[in-house]
Amino acid sequence: MARTPVTGGNWKMHTTLPEAIALAQEVRHRLGSQRLGDVLLFPPFPFLAAVADKVAGSHVNVGAQDLHFEAKGAFTGAVSAAMIVSTGATHVLVGHSERRSVFGDTDEIVAKKLRAALAAGLKPVLCVGEQLAERQNGTTFAVVDRQLTVALDGLLADQLQHLIIAYEPVWAIGTGLTASPEQAQEVHAHIRAWLATRFSAAFAANCRIQYGGSVKGSNATGLFAQSDIDGMLVGGASLTADEFAAIVRAGRAVP
Ligand code: PGA
Repeated sequence: MARTPVTGGNWKMHTTLPEAIALAQEVRHRLGSQRLGDVLLFPPFPFLAAVADKVAGSHVNVGAQDLHFEAKGAFTGAVSAAMIVSTGATHVLVGHSERRSVFGDTDEIVAKKLRAALAAGLKPVLCVGEQLAERQNGTTFAVVDRQLTVALDGLLADQLQHLIIAYEPVWAIGTGLTASPEQAQEVHAHIRAWLATRFSAAFAANCRIQYGGSVKGSNATGLFAQSDIDGMLVGGASLTADEFAAIVRAGRAVP
């Protein structure tokens, strides 16, 4: 079964408002009107509405980089799922490795955020991946299994029809060290098998799994060629419209 490619640009803590608007416009322009799979932009919170406005009517959708799990209240600085929805954004990253390592998001917090996103109708991109030491000591699969088990605990396949998983080995993020297509495929296949056991073969066959970690125009084709890699989650290279468009174009054409 053909899964529609899905490529996201995670702008992290980059751009000012004018720069975000210009980048969104440029990405839209570079991609043109042909549908090249699903394309997602993840700008900083304050620019969500402006970026959503710039890409309205195109094949590009917008997502937030994080959310708080509470619906509202005295949580200074936090942003709820409903706030994100109200900007026109449709997606949200959950459990990105920088949220886990820099901001202390535990597996349990990630699970609560995932539920908050689903309850508000946001489509979650659940990020998982091992640290360098974990890869070196042979626990990559165990780490990914634990992250998936806790995040998806108690959820039903019906609730997860729009779930996207992003496999991002932490040692490959922002380091220039991309996982080889074979290394990435091995973990993607493992995740898909895990989904088949946890949910069903049909669910696993439909769920899109992105790769993230130093993806560039020059290495995207080899990664996309792998049978279980359905798209890319791009950090640094998504800040250049040309480079990001090249990565999107490396994906399989939409049938
Ligand atoms: P990178 O980031 O492409 O800069 O390695 C990927 C990510 O963090 O999603």
